Amino acid sequence: ITHFFRGTALNGKKVLITAGPTYEAIDPVRFIGNHSSGKMGFALAEAFYLQGAKVCLVTGPTAQSIQYKGIELIAVTDAAAMYNNCMSRFTSCDIAVMSAAVADYTPTVVADEKIKKAGEAIVIELTKTKDILKAMGAVKRDNQLLVGFALETNNENAYAIGKLESKNADMIVLNSLRDANAGFGFDTNKVTIFDRNGNNYPIALASKKDIAGEIIHLIINKIHG
Ligand code: CTP
Ligand code: CA
Repeated sequence: ITHFFRGTALNGKKVLITAGPTYEAIDPVRFIGNHSSGKMGFALAEAFYLQGAKVCLVTGPTAQSIQYKGIELIAVTDAAAMYNNCMSRFTSCDIAVMSAAVADYTPTVVADEKIKKAGEAIVIELTKTKDILKAMGAVKRDNQLLVGFALETNNENAYAIGKLESKNADMIVLNSLRDANAGFGFDTNKVTIFDRNGNNYPIALASKKDIAGEIIHLIINKIHG
């Protein structure tokens, strides 16, 4: 099933990818984060690059590294920086794939000094972050292809299709957490891809590199018909 090899199908196409978690600062030493490893986004970046695309990877903090110098890597920490770096590049790209696990909320204020331990409970007020995928969907041109991810624990197909529509994406990759070897931190993933024509493509459990190949295979079919 792997299409993870060199090709020319995406020669010259500009691709923007997000990967990893975001870290939202609470104070100078603490943050709110999540378990995203960045593996899926990094695999996508390399697979696009190997098909001739010009790749820009905007990543939150991860342990991953890129083995190709030709991939532009932009390291950010929080959701606001990821939003700014993505939106300034979106107009000039042909394909955008949002695989990052962006924080939905960020501390309303960041304490200047380390917060001292005091009472038995503490409340940290959080404010909603900007939705990068949705913002891209709102300004997307007909010649741009926008791909999102969805992570669900229940009603997964309905929620994934809902995100496809509400964010005006062309494709949504649904991560299934039902498989014991899929999701955060694993090298393998189990996904179903939904598109705007009502099609869905279930992909068998496979390495994140092979899944990246499958996603790109579908994208190439959409672009070249
Ligand atoms: N996303 C984004 N910016 C955000 C939040 C999410 O770009 N601030 C993108 C993710 O990268 C993913 C898609 O939106 O491609 C769906 O993310 P997900 O967390 O599954 O959905 P949400 O819309 O955030 O809704 P919820 O977490 O409540 O399910
Ligand atoms: Ca979310």
